[in-house]
Amino acid sequence: MTTTPLTTAASGPPASPYVTGLFAPVLDEVDAEDLVIHGELPEAIRGSYYRNGANTPYTPPTPWTYPIDGDGMVHEMAISEGRAHYRNRFVRTPMIEAELAAKKALWATMMGGAMPLGEVPEELKFTPKDLPDVNIVRHDGRLLALAETTRSYCLDPTTLATLGPETWDGAYPMGHTAHPKIDPVTGEMILFAYTFAEPYLTWAVIGADGSVVQPPTGVAGFDATYMIHDCAITERYLLLLVNPAVFTLDEMMKGGSPLQWQPERGSRTVLVPRDGSAPIWLDADRVSWCWHIANAYDSADEVVVDWVRWDHLQVVDQVAENLGALVRTTLRPSAGTTSTEVLHEGLMEFPRIDDRRIGQHHSRIAMGAKSGRPGLIPGEFDSVLTIRPDTGEAAVFDGGDLVVGEPCFVPDPAAEGWFVTFGTDRTTLRSSFIVLSAEDVSAGPIARVDLPVRVPNGLHGAWAPTAG
Ligand SMILES: [Fe+2]
Repeated sequence: MTTTPLTTAASGPPASPYVTGLFAPVLDEVDAEDLVIHGELPEAIRGSYYRNGANTPYTPPTPWTYPIDGDGMVHEMAISEGRAHYRNRFVRTPMIEAELAAKKALWATMMGGAMPLGEVPEELKFTPKDLPDVNIVRHDGRLLALAETTRSYCLDPTTLATLGPETWDGAYPMGHTAHPKIDPVTGEMILFAYTFAEPYLTWAVIGADGSVVQPPTGVAGFDATYMIHDCAITERYLLLLVNPAVFTLDEMMKGGSPLQWQPERGSRTVLVPRDGSAPIWLDADRVSWCWHIANAYDSADEVVVDWVRWDHLQVVDQVAENLGALVRTTLRPSAGTTSTEVLHEGLMEFPRIDDRRIGQHHSRIAMGAKSGRPGLIPGEFDSVLTIRPDTGEAAVFDGGDLVVGEPCFVPDPAAEGWFVTFGTDRTTLRSSFIVLSAEDVSAGPIARVDLPVRVPNGLHGAWAPTAG
């Protein structure tokens, strides 16, 4: 194992549970080969599992907001011929490079305005901090670390070295969603960005070859800057759940949070036809919040979308009264109606499907879920739950003391495939990479790889098969 020590974290009181405990950053960049494997890694698993997450080395000077704040660190589990290798690297934005050089935090957090608060290099004096810690996506051979609203960064898929910002030929110089969707049929990547001036939201299409097929185009009907974290696509539409979390500069000028929950605005869905015709707005039957959509698809004249519903925008001090559920909403654009049914009650997040089914009918959804065991904070899950929406069949892998991350699907040419994720034992603080059979996660891991270092709880991951 080779370790490149960085530096030590600045002392000071922890600002948030999301920079301590299982979320505490790691400071070293590590390469470790031929790790200890329990069970057997299937020969058909050949490729890399990449996972991004917040890893801020210095106590931030302003309040922290989970899950949208944080410097990115990407962790890779590379698997070939039944052997497993691990690597992690910071996403080296100019801002984190400046902070590492200064050995202290220099920028405010997102809700603090994300602007420099200390002495920074001249060229960054008026530059908000890039926070590409939310997601990681492969497209056109590029490995992209993605942020909630700031710029994406390209990484070398082999070394995880940061190559620089990705603006798509200048189409999105200030950034875009962390959750673009790649259409497995057309190979196109569809993305959106909310903006702080009219038209408040744009969407664009990046071709399979990385070219800009459709430049950013406004979606008519937005009357404010709504925070929208995720999206879905179908063959016909880009689908956005528009819930009443609104950025208001007035509140920020008064010293409040720029992000306000305004339930009087209601919840709506906008279907943006991919053929360029006028968007279709539909009112929801109740106010709610959504971080993540599992998938959507067209079904005759209807559109079906499966998503994780929360009562309201989940922030730490409100979670006790926040109820979650995996729900299915059926949208009828011609009738202008919607209806929603609960597929599974409980606290869960990070829904993923077989990515080869994005935009089409899907048969299984996997999520991180809470078993009810005490001591977990919001964003920590001790189970992997799978649901088959068509039958209601559920399966659970209860990790016990293992706190698990988002399950990511790995296809098997001979069967359905596997869900993989990182987990960390709450008692020993030892991390591992686990492989679950997609057909029955309740059987427990078929393989577990011991990791040489702790992998902090993080956010989203991606599976990239080895070419050929
Ligand atoms: Fe997300």
